[in-house]
Amino acid sequence: MTAQPVLASVTSTALILFNGAFQPFQAAIGFAILGYLFTTYMIPRVSPSFVKRGLYGKDMSKVGKPIIPETIGVIPAICYLFLMILFIPFMYIRYYYNQPDTYDSEAASLFPNGKLSSFLSGMLCLESMVLLGLMDDLFDIRWRHKFFLPAIAAIPLLVIYYVDFGVTDVLIPKIIRRYLQVTTNSIDLGIFYYFYMAAVAIFCPNSVNILAGVNGLEVGQTAVIAVLLLLNDFCYLFIGDSSSPAYSVHLYSSCMLIPFLGTALGLLKYNWYPSKVFVGDTWCYFSGMVFAVVGISGHFAKTLMLFFVPQIFNFIYSLPQLFGLVPCPRHRLPHFNPEDNLMYNSWTEYTEKQPVKPVMIPIFNAMEKLKLIALIRDKNGTIIKSSNMTVINLVIIWFGPKREDHLCMLIMLLQFLTGLTMLLLRHTVAPMLFGFDNSWNMLTRFYKK
Ligand code: UD1
Ligand code: MG
Repeated sequence: MTAQPVLASVTSTALILFNGAFQPFQAAIGFAILGYLFTTYMIPRVSPSFVKRGLYGKDMSKVGKPIIPETIGVIPAICYLFLMILFIPFMYIRYYYNQPDTYDSEAASLFPNGKLSSFLSGMLCLESMVLLGLMDDLFDIRWRHKFFLPAIAAIPLLVIYYVDFGVTDVLIPKIIRRYLQVTTNSIDLGIFYYFYMAAVAIFCPNSVNILAGVNGLEVGQTAVIAVLLLLNDFCYLFIGDSSSPAYSVHLYSSCMLIPFLGTALGLLKYNWYPSKVFVGDTWCYFSGMVFAVVGISGHFAKTLMLFFVPQIFNFIYSLPQLFGLVPCPRHRLPHFNPEDNLMYNSWTEYTEKQPVKPVMIPIFNAMEKLKLIALIRDKNGTIIKSSNMTVINLVIIWFGPKREDHLCMLIMLLQFLTGLTMLLLRHTVAPMLFGFDNSWNMLTRFYKK
């Protein structure tokens, strides 16, 4: 072992064990360092065994399409789950010891069972997702079979939300309130809010999985989302009032996200261009669900979606291919040209037997004018090729062919800038639009119940 990992291990252990003023935040940083160290230690050691067991994929964007170990995302995922189990005493015991008389049975009853059950339901949900991802990597489960499973995995979360919090109101913007002359600030969506949260649980894992195919992007996008969510948490932790309920939920959220970021960065080290490992669907499902868990149990499932704007756009943009209006090849990743080492957009090809569906022709023409798609026509003007409808291909159409790592960095940068804009709007324009800050108000109302 070289000096750096030893130093990092000592620092993380000290952060975890030292019961300073910033517990459990500092322990989260300690667990993140441990997660990074463990992931980077394990991946190179276990990768050959994955290949031996048949868990590998071809890197399509390299000369000779070399074989790379796949499903490696299961290592950081399991590491994260174990770290979070070890985290439990550091996250919750302070409630017990902060009571005036520690050994008083009444004080012990102040232990936040509700908060712990919310945390445990999140862990249960993540474990289900790791299982689903693993089964998908092993057996390539069909889309229609696996689509709704994340919503079932999220049931414990939703039940705890109902019992523990139960707020299903959505704020009405000031201007609409004035226009409709309503006195109430919000509208209660009731059961529909639970459908919305179940949809979030389905969307997050799947949207990460379909923004993929470039070395580093599957993990890179999750690292960017985690950083953006942490910035949102810090707005409440370092600027807000520490006695407010919002402080407590954002402390919880950051405690979930900081160790996640540590393990994700460990995985990114090996998945970055040129990839030594592929993450597999296990990582996509697991990481997407981490965000859904944080958003739902942190009571900010609507704000969460602000940081998924590129994924939402990619999903909507992909709909014609996902629903068969446009043929969807097994892989829609960009095309690698070995002559100049650059990535070009990939195409869907049409033949006489399989021409463009008539309904798509005006849509394609309009999209072409808006520079949202590239089309190739024959000399009669018939469309013979259309670019595959993913954000990755669109970025190539807008910014030109790129080397794989530059393409990944550009997409991550665009995602970060979009997320940062959303964050600024969330904390400036949104309170003006709604008359007050939604999360603060809802939480205060709940805790006064
Ligand atoms: C999703 C996308 C698919 C994309 C694939 C890439 C949809 C509907 N599906 O499918 O279009 O091609 O992800 O992950 O949008 N690979 C690389 N380089 C990478 C990452 C992956 O070449 O950096 C290839 C490897 O051959 C790897 C395979 O993609 O084995 C993994 O694909 P998989 O995760 O099974 O594809 P899906 O998630 O089904
Ligand atoms: Mg995948």
